[in-house]
Amino acid sequence: MRNYDNLICPRCGCRLSRQGGSLYCFGKHCYDIASSGYVNLVLSGSKAQTNSGDNKDMMQARRRVMDSGYYAKLGDELIKLIESYLHDSVLDIGCGEGYITGRIAKAFESSDVRGSDLSKIAITMADKRYKNASFIVGNSASLPIAEGSVDVAIAVFTPTYFAELDRVLKRGGVFIKIAPGANHLMGVKELLYEDTYENAQTVEMLPDSLTLIKHFTIEDSYTAEGGLVLDLLQMTPYYYKTPKEAIERVAKMPKVTTELAFDIKVYVKHGA
Ligand SMILES: C[S@@+](CC[C@H](N)C(=O)[O-])C[C@H]1O[C@@H](n2cnc3c(N)ncnc32)[C@H](O)[C@@H]1O
Ligand SMILES: [Zn+2]
Repeated sequence: MRNYDNLICPRCGCRLSRQGGSLYCFGKHCYDIASSGYVNLVLSGSKAQTNSGDNKDMMQARRRVMDSGYYAKLGDELIKLIESYLHDSVLDIGCGEGYITGRIAKAFESSDVRGSDLSKIAITMADKRYKNASFIVGNSASLPIAEGSVDVAIAVFTPTYFAELDRVLKRGGVFIKIAPGANHLMGVKELLYEDTYENAQTVEMLPDSLTLIKHFTIEDSYTAEGGLVLDLLQMTPYYYKTPKEAIERVAKMPKVTTELAFDIKVYVKHGA
């Protein structure tokens, strides 16, 4: 179900409330609800909006890869993990075309599940397909979400801003961060480069109120065949960093199999 609770005005930070087909704050700033249901809470002309994420081709390639099972195991494991915490409200930041948001919303029908992304193209795609979740165009660096309103926040392969996550989480709420594990996409890298390297692992600067309580890796493998080989390449960071000849050579391969490795960190916000 579409939910417009716990949203705040990106101009003045006041709570938004619904009147007809729009959301208004006390200062009468107004945001229209799109006919499909999402709301754009990134100010037009802002720096964030002009750098707004992945383009349509990248998003469509990503969706085809998702539909062929790329995140199937990750989705299953995330659902088990979320089930073990209070999960009345779940926020998927940088949700992209919405595969993971949609899986969570399907698994937890009575929860308020919301996806947020800077890319309007991504949110339009997510919103059209996943009717049991709610979607907003929103910047993770300045979330248009009310303070202390989220039980579980997740971020899959997308930039995270800990101070913002700390602000929107309830006390006792958790943040689940998914980043590439050491061997993620190694099979693709081996085809593209002579020398391969493991992905570096990041060390985060945490606010005092967040503590890392779990850290583990989910390993899987994925095979792309036919047109999905190019789709897979297109959704990796290597697509833009690698000489064109190497991309074209690999894209012509009938089949590519690769390791997937998801580095999962769970942080809790201290209760009072
Ligand atoms: C690699 S994609 C991951 C999408 C999705 N989480 C998934 O795993 O399929 C990264 C996403 O982060 C979004 N993104 C990047 N910077 C962002 C920001 N500051 N605020 C919100 N979304 C952002 C992009 O638009 C893109 O959809
Ligand atoms: Zn306002």
